[in-house]
Amino acid sequence: MKINRRTLLSAGSMLAGFAATGLRAESDSAIHVVKDPGCPCCNGWIGHLRDSGFSVTFEERSIEDLAAFKRERGIPDTLVSCHTAVIGAYTIEGHVPAADIRRLMAEAPDAVGLAVPGMPFGSPGMGPETEREAYDVILVGRDGGASAFARYPAA
Ligand code: CU
Ligand code: CU
Repeated sequence: MKINRRTLLSAGSMLAGFAATGLRAESDSAIHVVKDPGCPCCNGWIGHLRDSGFSVTFEERSIEDLAAFKRERGIPDTLVSCHTAVIGAYTIEGHVPAADIRRLMAEAPDAVGLAVPGMPFGSPGMGPETEREAYDVILVGRDGGASAFARYPAA
């Protein structure tokens, strides 16, 4: 794309629009993803978050270090997936839909965070939703307990 004065002006008004949405939105939208280098579906999920208005940063760690990070963040071995993300004080494990992360931030329960264990087909970053297999988004308690936060039926 050729950058001229006009595109700069429209970029400027876009930035002004973002600024006007306020501080709360900004702090609730910054999410940091930890992934291993050999996982393309993580990038699919990062794209889904960006499309949904999150401001995403990420880093890559070895499988061992990533497993240690999950444990450190309170994700039980039974609920693990590929990537692990941090937003505010919460941990997000696996291909959790952006809408559920927004709901978590709005409701602010006393919990570790959310997890979609494994990598269900049709979850964000894991192929078309029209071919989705059924999966649950799990609310992970501080004691490692699991309860259903959202349910996605098979498409
Ligand atoms: Cu994955
Ligand atoms: Cu991943």
